[in-house]
Amino acid sequence: MVKRKSKHELVIMRKAGQIVADVHKAMKEAVRPGISTYDLDKIAYDVIHKSGAIPSFLNYQAHFADTPYPATICASVNNQVVHGIPSKDVILKEGDIISIDVGATYHGMVGDSAWTYPVGEISDELKRLLEITEKALYAAIDKARDGHMLIEVSGAVEDVANEAGLGIVSQYGGHGVGAEMHEEPFIFNIRVPSNPGPMLRSGMTIAIEPMLNLGTGDVHTAADGWTVVTNDGKPSAHFEHTIAVTDAEPEILTLVK
Ligand code: MF3
Ligand code: CO
Repeated sequence: MVKRKSKHELVIMRKAGQIVADVHKAMKEAVRPGISTYDLDKIAYDVIHKSGAIPSFLNYQAHFADTPYPATICASVNNQVVHGIPSKDVILKEGDIISIDVGATYHGMVGDSAWTYPVGEISDELKRLLEITEKALYAAIDKARDGHMLIEVSGAVEDVANEAGLGIVSQYGGHGVGAEMHEEPFIFNIRVPSNPGPMLRSGMTIAIEPMLNLGTGDVHTAADGWTVVTNDGKPSAHFEHTIAVTDAEPEILTLVK
């Protein structure tokens, strides 16, 4: 069952989303050569804590990992796709890209958003990777309308990626979000014709999160049991927003204003 949120739940989710957006504002300012991903994690924790929210990822027990997630953000650098664990040993350097994913739970409702940031000046090919992955996110959001089938959202990501010749990470994807961080439905980043639904209805809240690679879409989990990396070692980007389906335009709950 895909839940539709009440007006009151949407009010709370807007607040949760804005706290997540505030974290991203702080991350954008803090990301620079020389900072560690551990320091970024501390900044993110403080923003969430001061807002009266709880980091949704901290201690999260995912079905695919043996240990609970140990941090506030996921910080995935270069060839790391998602779920990179912040560390004092990971120091950003000029030319890197870093994908920062963060969730905040406010009065029991979750906001979830990821963004890939350049560290200093980056190459043109990396700039293009970031631009196109962001474009794929917005193309998918534009399909998240009352009466549309979910496969249209997935298809929008697939089409933008294919047109640009980027690899699509197909084992991971978006999800319903609300009282739980991961609710139904799962949102593929490719069309799965055998699984076209459900039909989107106003009041549904979903996190859409394309992950696109400069090389192939093939990935595996590193020895730490969490960090997902590309098989070919090439860079990956990840952009995610939590949105609400409405009777009109999709509402981006995690928009940085
Ligand atoms: N945005 C990611 C997701 O939806 C965050 C999960 S990280 C975890 O899967 F630590 F919380 F698992
Ligand atoms: Co998510």
